[in-house]
Amino acid sequence: MKVTVIGTGYVGLPTALVFADLGNDVLCVDKDEAKVAMLRAGQVPIYEPGVEALLRRSLDDGLFKVTPSTDEGMQHGEVVFIAVGTPQGDDGEADLSAVWAVARDIAKYICHYTIIVTKSTVPVGTGDRIEQILVDAGVDRSMFDVVSNPEFLREGTALPDAQHPDRIVIGADNQAAAHKLMELFAPLEAPVIITDRRSSELIKYASNTFLAIKISFINAISRMCEECGADVSAVARGMGSDPRIGNKFLQAGLGWGGSCLPKDVAALNKIAADLGYDFKMLQAADEVNEQQTRHFVQRLSDRIGGFQGKTIGLLGLAFKPNTDDIRDAKSLEIIEMLKAEGATIRAYDPAAAENVRAIHPDITYVNSALETGQNADAIILVTEWNEFKSLDLTRLGQIMRRKLIFDGRRVFTPYQIERAGFEYVTVGAKG
Ligand code: UDX
Repeated sequence: MKVTVIGTGYVGLPTALVFADLGNDVLCVDKDEAKVAMLRAGQVPIYEPGVEALLRRSLDDGLFKVTPSTDEGMQHGEVVFIAVGTPQGDDGEADLSAVWAVARDIAKYICHYTIIVTKSTVPVGTGDRIEQILVDAGVDRSMFDVVSNPEFLREGTALPDAQHPDRIVIGADNQAAAHKLMELFAPLEAPVIITDRRSSELIKYASNTFLAIKISFINAISRMCEECGADVSAVARGMGSDPRIGNKFLQAGLGWGGSCLPKDVAALNKIAADLGYDFKMLQAADEVNEQQTRHFVQRLSDRIGGFQGKTIGLLGLAFKPNTDDIRDAKSLEIIEMLKAEGATIRAYDPAAAENVRAIHPDITYVNSALETGQNADAIILVTEWNEFKSLDLTRLGQIMRRKLIFDGRRVFTPYQIERAGFEYVTVGAKG
C-alpha cells in the first residue's frame, strides 16, 4: 500500500519504518529540511533503539523515502498519517497548531481520494475539525475520509511496540475507510477495535491518564511505606498478582514524566472542565506526581544537612531509559532544586546529556556512571538505565566523599548495597 506519514518524530518515524518493513511503499514528510537530509543519509535525529538499522535497511530496499514536500506526500499516499507533535499549550490544553497547519496543507495539495489518519494524540472532535478545514478550503467531501488511529508505542521500545501492538484502535465513521486501514494493519496480527472517531480519540487520553493514575497510586502507597516500614515493591508484587490489577506500571519511583503522560493528564483535565466535569481524580494524580520528586530531594537534603557546598552525582537524565528525550524529565526538576540550594552537580546519561547541557550548561557532565561519584556527598539514581544495575559500587564508594545512594527508581538490591557498604535510601522504604 502507498502510505504517507507526516512528521518524523518519536512516533512518526518508527511507525513509518514498521509500515515499510511490512512491504508498504512509504513516504515521510517533514518540514525540517535538515532532518530530511539526515534521514536520507541513514541518520536518525533521535535516540531510539533499532531505528537506525531499520532506517538503513528500508532506504536500501527502496520502501522508505522522505521529502519536505506535502505536495509530494499527498500525491503518494492512499493513506496519509498525521504524526506531528501536540505539545501542552496554554491552560493545559493540547496545542494543535501543527495539526491544523498540516490539515491546511492537505487541503491545498489533496489530488485523489485519501484516507487521512490522526496518529497524534488529539482531543475529541479534532477529526471533525480537520474535516471542516478541508471542506472550508473547497475540497469535495467525496475526496477524503478522516480516521482516528491513536498510537500507543512507548519511547525506548518504539519499534517492538509498533511491531507487536497489544491492540489497534480505528475510529472511523465510514466502514470502507476502516477496512482499508485494517488491511494495512493485518500483517501485525493484533486485535483490532473498530469504533467511532470520537471514542477512538478519547481512548488514547483515557489510556494514558489511567496509566498516570496507576503510577501515582503506587507512589502514594510508597509514601505510606516510608512511614510504616512496609516495602513498596512487595506491596506492588502482591497487588499486581491479581490479574484485575496487573503488575505493569506499578513501579514506584520519582513519578511520571516524558512527552505524553504529563501533557495528556493536563489536556484531559481541560477537556473534562470544558465539558463541565471536574476530574478530581486526575488532579489528585497530578498532585501526587508533583510532590514525589520534591519529597525525595527533601529526604536527601535532610539526610546530608542541606546542599550548600555539597557535590551530588546524578545517574541518568532522560525521562526514562533507552531514550534521549528529556521532556518533563525528573532530572530537570532535581537539577533546578539542587542548583537553587548551591550544590555542585556531576551528571551522566548514556544518551540525553547533550540535551540537558543545552538547558543547564553550568553543571559538570561526565563520561561514565562511575565518574559521577568523584568527591560526591551522594549519588541520586534518576533514570534506571540498564548499565547502572551492574555499576561497580565498590569502586564508586572508593572515590566518593560519603558512600550514600539515593535510588529514585529502586534499581539496586539490598545485597548489592550492603556488600559495598553504602548508606541506601530509596522510594517506598524507610530510611
Ligand atoms: C506513554 C504510554 O505508555 C504510551 O502508551 C503512549 O503511546 C505514550 O506515552 P512513554 O511516555 O514513552 O509512553 O513512557 P512510559 O513507559 O509510559 O513511561 C512514562 C513515565 O512513567 C516515565 O517517566 C516512567 O519513568 C514512569 N513510570 C512508568 C513509572 O514511574 N512507573 C512505572 O511503573 C511505569
